[in-house]
Amino acid sequence: MSTPPNSDPRVDQAAVTDESLLAVHEKILGSQPDEKARYKLLPLNLLFIFSGLIFFAGTYMNRYAGRFDPHIYDENLKSTKGEAVAAAPVDPVVVGKKLFNNAACNTCHQATGLGQPGAIPPLVASEWATGPAERVIRIVLHGLQGPITVNGAAYNSAMPPFGRVAGSGFNWSDDKVAAVLTYVRQEWGNQASAITTEKVAEIRAKEGDHKPWTAEELLKIP
Ligand code: HEC
Repeated sequence: MSTPPNSDPRVDQAAVTDESLLAVHEKILGSQPDEKARYKLLPLNLLFIFSGLIFFAGTYMNRYAGRFDPHIYDENLKSTKGEAVAAAPVDPVVVGKKLFNNAACNTCHQATGLGQPGAIPPLVASEWATGPAERVIRIVLHGLQGPITVNGAAYNSAMPPFGRVAGSGFNWSDDKVAAVLTYVRQEWGNQASAITTEKVAEIRAKEGDHKPWTAEELLKIP
């Protein structure tokens, strides 16, 4: 029995000629788009635009993100009504503490209020700091110089004027002077009365640009 031609699959394959294979492949490959042709170089100005954006975003975050500190801006914070917030009183002791420690009084009297032995008198338990408002306001407004006894110890130096008076490098407003003195009189265990802005304004109006006081002059003021 003879096998009919082409009934064997191997024969079938063999029948595929090299040419027909190539032709088929060429057809397939030819229908594929040229991969390389689809890539283009990134335009250079696009690179500049994106670098610029990243730089801008970085600078912006740096400037406005508040170091992502929740204390700086908390959008979820439940607030009371706007009017109530505006009406909240500003504590002069809090304001005064900041003023005191912001390269002002603390550079000499120290944050502890203890001064420097032999050179700068203490404010803690000082009969001047906690004494009559009339004297302590004058000291901070116009400055102080010459011999003074504080807590039984003698000093002889000078303190600069802080008020808005001639020769003051600080030019503090009356409410700043009042706040810092209220703080001094109620910190470190001191328990003297608060100093009001009105009282400071009154003394400034009365004394004008008085030169730095001496302890002797001040002791004459009740
Ligand atoms: C440059 C240093 C200096 C600075 C700043 C300074 N003081 Fe004085 N302060 C002195 C000296 C020194 C005396 C004593 C002056 C004297 O010997 O006559 C004095 C005295 C005083 C006194 C009276 C004496 C006493 O110890 O109670 C008070 C109150 C006072 N200072 C408060 C302040 C306050 C409040 C500030 C900030 C607003 C301040 N001083 C900033 C140096 C300074």
